[in-house]
Amino acid sequence: MKKILPIQNGLRGEIKIPGDKSISHRAIMISSLGNSEVEIENFLLGADCLSTIDCMKKLGVEIKIDGEKIFVKGRGLFGLCEPTEILDAGNSGTTLRLLLGLTAPQNFFVTFTGDKSLTQRPMARVIKPLTEMGAKIFGRNENKNLPISVLNSGKKLRGIFYQMPVASAQVKSAIIFSALFADSSTKIIEPYPSRNHTEKMLKSFGAKIETSGNEIKIFPAENLIAPKKIIVPGDISSAAYWIVLATILKNSEVIIKNVGINETRTGILDILKKMGAKIEILNQRESGGEISADLKIISSKLHGTKFGGEMIPRLIDEIPALTVAAAFAEGETVIHDVGELRVKETDRLAAIVEEFNKISPQSFDSTEDSLIIRGGREKFFAECKTHADHRMAMSLSIFGAAANGVEIDDESCVKISYPDFFDIF
Ligand code: S3P
Repeated sequence: MKKILPIQNGLRGEIKIPGDKSISHRAIMISSLGNSEVEIENFLLGADCLSTIDCMKKLGVEIKIDGEKIFVKGRGLFGLCEPTEILDAGNSGTTLRLLLGLTAPQNFFVTFTGDKSLTQRPMARVIKPLTEMGAKIFGRNENKNLPISVLNSGKKLRGIFYQMPVASAQVKSAIIFSALFADSSTKIIEPYPSRNHTEKMLKSFGAKIETSGNEIKIFPAENLIAPKKIIVPGDISSAAYWIVLATILKNSEVIIKNVGINETRTGILDILKKMGAKIEILNQRESGGEISADLKIISSKLHGTKFGGEMIPRLIDEIPALTVAAAFAEGETVIHDVGELRVKETDRLAAIVEEFNKISPQSFDSTEDSLIIRGGREKFFAECKTHADHRMAMSLSIFGAAANGVEIDDESCVKISYPDFFDIF
């Protein structure tokens, strides 16, 4: 249980945010396939990324955590070993889905499990394309859910042409990993572009991947040439809480240092700016194909907006935080095409409507795949549930801080993506 008090005088100063969760996962997995040792700087030591480290260790990879640095001894593209234990992905969809793609082409047997939330999340979306490639994967509930076993398929996977029904970087990345081991090239078409960290990092390891709009073509690889070091930029999904809070609290001026601003992730900046937010991008730089910058945020008056479609994958994890901003905006905000939020760590559409309305009654509504937020309504102190979802916990905290306070039932779930969130708070 944690009580958050209202913030009276705005936010001022500099904030350093933790490393990007998506890039941290990929840094461990891809370095494991490389031909030499990689040092990873600014790695996110959150529970999800620790699940990835744990699974990769069980697949035979030597990984050393030394303070904030991680050292991964690449075993080469064909060096993973059959684990003797079940691999536990915990709460992490990224760990599970990407590792399904990584283990599908291996000549060994592996079984995955996860926590209560992950066990309910849909996995057919990954199993289906990998099975088309020739992988042998079996899961509970007619190949829809954990536990899932990947069997030795006995032969090389086939390259495929795959038109993805949902824009999902996790599914895309799983196919990309398997495609590296296939007998011919693979072409993927996404409905809209999703985050492209896997493509960028694999290219920096020398893999041949061609991208054009919504299309990705992956060629089989013989080896991956590891760089000495990967520097993980700060996570824009973690920055989102401070970006929103500094925008809606009067008298705020904040610099958020070293934020990853890969354009497949910056939807939150585009939408907040469209709503009237003052956000400046400073000191832009590049490392390993990923761009980062410092963000300057100043309090602003917001107005409601409407968006959906291809914007959604660019801010999918920031919607709970953005919804808080919309509650302080003038007028109505409508967010279309967010049905995917129903299959995240919890059903986020239902959780937002149930919990956020306790703080600002009759402000939040949903349909099957959209959210409606009526901004500017009265706000009260409330006792809210996080639904064991890290992004709900942090969004409720900033909502309470900007309103009249909030008490959340379980703050420990922030360890998934932002272990020191409340210290910074
Ligand atoms: C992620 C992709 C997104 C996102 C998740 C992390 C990734 O999921 O919601 O938190 O690292 O690839 P989907 O690709 O399934 O939308």
